Amino acid sequence: MSGENNHETVLREAAVNALNIRSDGIYADLTFGRGGHSNEILQRLGPAGRLIALDKDPQAVAVGQQWQDPRFTICHSGFDQVSAQLDRLGVGMLDGVLMDLGVSSPQLDEASRGFSFRFDAPLDMRMNTTSGLTAAEWLAQVTETELREVLWAYGEERNARRIAAAIVAQQARVPITHTQQLAHLVAAVMPGRDTGQNPATRTFQAIRIHINRELEELSLTLPLVADRLSAGGRLVVIAFHSLEDRLVKRFMRQRSSPPPMPAKLPLRADQIPAPGMKLIGRAVRPSEAEVAKNPRARSAVMRTIEMAKS
Ligand SMILES: C[S@@+](CC[C@H](N)C(=O)[O-])C[C@H]1O[C@@H](n2cnc3c(N)ncnc32)[C@H](O)[C@@H]1O
Repeated sequence: MSGENNHETVLREAAVNALNIRSDGIYADLTFGRGGHSNEILQRLGPAGRLIALDKDPQAVAVGQQWQDPRFTICHSGFDQVSAQLDRLGVGMLDGVLMDLGVSSPQLDEASRGFSFRFDAPLDMRMNTTSGLTAAEWLAQVTETELREVLWAYGEERNARRIAAAIVAQQARVPITHTQQLAHLVAAVMPGRDTGQNPATRTFQAIRIHINRELEELSLTLPLVADRLSAGGRLVVIAFHSLEDRLVKRFMRQRSSPPPMPAKLPLRADQIPAPGMKLIGRAVRPSEAEVAKNPRARSAVMRTIEMAKS
């Protein structure tokens, strides 16, 4: 089956509202996908505004390259390379940055990308299909200990030990090359409680996060973009699972707290340095109506932080 080439944008209006767009500002959309948020940003920018978009998936970039708008530039790049991309384009400070994390619907729905156990396809799972190991290549060389750690850390999979042992044992007999081969193997070793979720869900999530270095790249990128925001500039992040959201929440909390001072320093309240950034509102989740229309929105959590104005 070949997938739809569209992505239902999550929190489209809310995320772009949170950016507080200035019509002549410079913005970055670090996760272009199919351009739902980028399109909304461009609608709110005037002729002097500018939008730089990044995506590590060449299929996403190919969509952006079709856009004919002099205010818009798209780069094939991991977002952890954002500083180099901005330097290359001669862009200094930014008025706002959006990150809508995780995978896009075309990635999940196109069988050949190998992200989903819903279709049988080569086990790839790379967002950037031009570099790095595919999931099948990684499984062919991983040790049982490393696999167990990945399943536990990135899938919070309670049966990590049992699944890792089964995969490594199977690998010694027949290479695991296809999505459903992996899904069936996991299902066969899981204790038989029916949670309504495919038994391989957490295994697939964990392998995908590892293959794409999702959490490492996110932790590298948050400080890079925060340091690139001009006064009043905002960072808006939409996360789709608790591991991602925990990282975003911690980072934003740390940047919006006063810097740590020696405990016994005799300081008056007005001598305590102000935090560099301020949280804007609370975490935002999609409405029931949005989730009913787009079930993939159900786990989204959006957080916003703003660079101090002076
Ligand atoms: C949820 S989709 C974004 C959808 C987009 N906001 C829209 O409305 O169409 C996430 C996108 O981010 C990209 N992506 C994820 N991690 C990335 C990274 N570390 N660097 C660059 N792009 C990344 C994925 O390839 C995917 O296209």
